[in-house]
Amino acid sequence: MRFSGKKAVVTGGTHGMGLAVVRALLDGGAEVLATGRDVSGLDIPGAHLLSSDAASLTDIDSLAAVAEDKLGTLDLVFLNVGFATLTPYAEATPEIYDRTFDVNAKGAYFTAQRLSGLVRPGGSLVFTTSVAAGAGIAGMGPYSAAKAAVRSFALTYAAELAPRGIRVNVVSPGYTDTPTMGVTGVPDEVLAAFKETGDEVTPLKRHATVAEVAAAVLFLAFEATFTTGADLPVDGGLGQRLTLPA
Ligand SMILES: NC(=O)c1ccc[n+]([C@@H]2O[C@H](COP(=O)([O-])OP(=O)(O)OC[C@H]3O[C@@H](n4cnc5c(N)ncnc54)[C@H](OP(=O)(O)O)[C@@H]3O)[C@@H](O)[C@H]2O)c1
Repeated sequence: MRFSGKKAVVTGGTHGMGLAVVRALLDGGAEVLATGRDVSGLDIPGAHLLSSDAASLTDIDSLAAVAEDKLGTLDLVFLNVGFATLTPYAEATPEIYDRTFDVNAKGAYFTAQRLSGLVRPGGSLVFTTSVAAGAGIAGMGPYSAAKAAVRSFALTYAAELAPRGIRVNVVSPGYTDTPTMGVTGVPDEVLAAFKETGDEVTPLKRHATVAEVAAAVLFLAFEATFTTGADLPVDGGLGQRLTLPA
């Protein structure tokens, strides 16, 4: 029961890597509040669930109120909500741009603002960004820029919350096997091709499991007690400028 007595909020905790973190926390004895856009009909045994759109400031305020009511003080806020579209620049619309920034960047910024007051000294925030934040990946313009903004927000939060003894770090996954691979609105065959490309371009020649990302998140959250402002890649070397043997 390595997380016994710990309390955590996980945004985007209903599937994918967020759910892996929720399950690991619950298995370790933590109390967890997890969000998704619509949790009706979902059951994650032992977890508190809340429907909450990360792009809605009203929903973020409600999330803070429910977190305070159900959990009181927090040891971890995992700001994990995010999505990408595969949109070449010529097909991008203001609507795609706005929604991408509203969910990924604005949502993360204001969720951290509204929830950080509940985090106790010694607790931490972990943001999910992406290997895309520091790369040029065709079709991922707004997403990559929004995740780069999240990386920047995390640095500022690390500075602003340090005096309260709260650490703030970032996990940057590469291609990771989740129901969406982080991408919405594409047919199954496009998603399969996306995944295949990931396996080809990643130096370790495979994608990550959600357990591998969750391990990094939990390390940053509970074990890396002198680490703040850091960005931990879980990308199989994809973002690390490796040159493989010929
Ligand atoms: N998978 C990858 O290869 C990959 C790579 C790099 C980075 N990432 C990042 O890692 C994070 C998790 O990705 P994932 O692949 O695990 O995603 P996922 O399987 O699609 O899960 C996303 C989670 O966020 C929730 N969600 C989505 N939009 C939301 C919104 N507007 N408001 C509230 N909740 C929302 C989803 O629940 P509902 O659907 O019920 O809303 C779900 O719980 C994201 O930030 C993503 O950008 C993923």
